[in-house]
Amino acid sequence: MDRYAVIGNPIAHSKSPVIHAAFAAQTRQTLTYEALLAPLDGFAATVAGFRAAGGCGCNVTVPFKLEAFALAERRSPRAQAAGAVNTLKFDAEGIYGDNTDGAGLVRDLTHNLDCPLAGRRILLLGAGGAARGVMLPLLSAAPARLTLANRTVSRAEALVAEFTSAAGSTPLAAGSFADLAGSQFDVVINATAASLADEAPPLPAGLYAPGALAYDMMYGRGDTPFLVAARSDGAARLADGLGMLVEQAAESFLLWRGVRPATAPVLAELRRQIEGA
Ligand code: ATR
Repeated sequence: MDRYAVIGNPIAHSKSPVIHAAFAAQTRQTLTYEALLAPLDGFAATVAGFRAAGGCGCNVTVPFKLEAFALAERRSPRAQAAGAVNTLKFDAEGIYGDNTDGAGLVRDLTHNLDCPLAGRRILLLGAGGAARGVMLPLLSAAPARLTLANRTVSRAEALVAEFTSAAGSTPLAAGSFADLAGSQFDVVINATAASLADEAPPLPAGLYAPGALAYDMMYGRGDTPFLVAARSDGAARLADGLGMLVEQAAESFLLWRGVRPATAPVLAELRRQIEGA
């Protein structure tokens, strides 16, 4: 039986085993998918052990995505741009690293939420690993412009400098949250970790253009603080990151198995479980 896993620390609450089991059943793929807890100083050893035991590939989550990047012997362009790897595939040529997070976000926006990105004004909040991971896929969607805002402005500026050539003719700008005053956006994506502290980024009022979507890469039961703030500031539509979670899993499944699973029934079931929890 082909074996897959998600490796992280902590890992007990990962939804990846449930998601991949559903994908496997739906596509009639014969495989197992387990959650593996790696010691904080033992990521590479855990991967090596899993591979030696017949593992075909794994997902990688907090806090090991940078180590997974270093471990990969070959990487996809989107993993290279993200500077992080969330999907490893083991084959005869060694360890291949990919990053499906950004593609998962873009697919959730464009397919599940019917929110096309081409020609739209996108605001990305944050400049850490989560923001970096989605930069290339967002730019590839040809927005009218991409603006980054971060609490620490220098980090947003550094990220913009790094992606200037990938942006081509797409205007790319960086600034503070306060600098956003007077601007309007069609899509506002929260890639900060503020929700973990039960906070919303301190944004000026009036950011949401008519019909705009507010998207939080975090998810949970009920609205995150960012989404609560977005609603009161007039965002027409709200979405959390559960769809991104399912879509990044589907992209990993596609890489491993060559089959794209249907995500809608899996997302609906997860949503039901979370809201009913
Ligand atoms: P991740 O990999 O989740 O992106 P990270 O690299 O530590 O984690 O980045 C966290 C991001 O959330 C950063 O953009 C951080 O802002 P700073 O660069 O100024 O630290 C942002 N962040 C964390 N807590 C925040 C808060 N309470 N309000 C606004 N931004 C916050």
